[in-house]
Amino acid sequence: MIQTVLFLFIIFCLPTLGVVLPLVINTWDFENATVTAWHSLQAGASPLDAVQRGCAVCEEEQCDGSVGFGGHPDETGETTLDALIMNGDTMEVGAVGDLRRVKNAVGVARAVMEHTYHTLRVGDSPIAGAGAYADSLVGGAAATGDGDIMMRFLPSFLAVELMRSGATPTTACQTAIYRIKKFYPEVFGAIICANSTGGFGEFNTINVVIIVKTTGIPEILS
Ligand SMILES: *[C@@H]1O[C@H](CO)[C@@H](O)[C@H](O)[C@H]1NC(C)=O
Ligand SMILES: *[C@@H]1O[C@H](CO)[C@@H](O)[C@H](O)[C@H]1NC(C)=O
Repeated sequence: MIQTVLFLFIIFCLPTLGVVLPLVINTWDFENATVTAWHSLQAGASPLDAVQRGCAVCEEEQCDGSVGFGGHPDETGETTLDALIMNGDTMEVGAVGDLRRVKNAVGVARAVMEHTYHTLRVGDSPIAGAGAYADSLVGGAAATGDGDIMMRFLPSFLAVELMRSGATPTTACQTAIYRIKKFYPEVFGAIICANSTGGFGEFNTINVVIIVKTTGIPEILS
């Protein structure tokens, strides 16, 4: 389950003054992948196409014996592939995990992004930082709602990090949801936040009932 995750690829094409772009950067010394992505950009391909082609080179060349088919097997002896592709302009994400008998995992991830309403095929609940996150030194957060959209923003992780930087639970919850609303104004979702001294808050775009209990009877927040 770790094959393509081990190989990460980023392309920056944003036109920023004074910066030399485009830039292709990837983990490990998989030069053919880097060069393929670069040449794709030079030939006019979109950054997403260039990322996909670069990744596909490693899936075909089985870079380092760890990427793609025949790569490091799991504990049952089977190689399974994971991949993720993300568009930082639109915050669209396509991801796949545990693929068997498929060589072009990044192509499947791209298809998930462009041809389904999903982000990954599981939802956000089992993803640390998306469904929930906790750090006893700071606090914890948990999210519910349209997981396919919310998981792209890791709202629970963001809320905990905001509380680490001094935000109250309420502000942390609000900011985490507004980050999503910036790209998806209609998103339906809710997040609860609590800090290490017992402060708590929530924010939601729907009529979610939140229950909290400290010493008295359980209290309904909204
Ligand atoms: C890179 O591509 C060249 C030309 O196709 C090929 O000969 C070479 O084996 C590739 N490198 C790796 C590490 O696969
Ligand atoms: C926890 O949140 C409350 C507000 O709900 C705030 O007054 C308190 O300072 C926060 N605690 C810490 C450690 O930030």
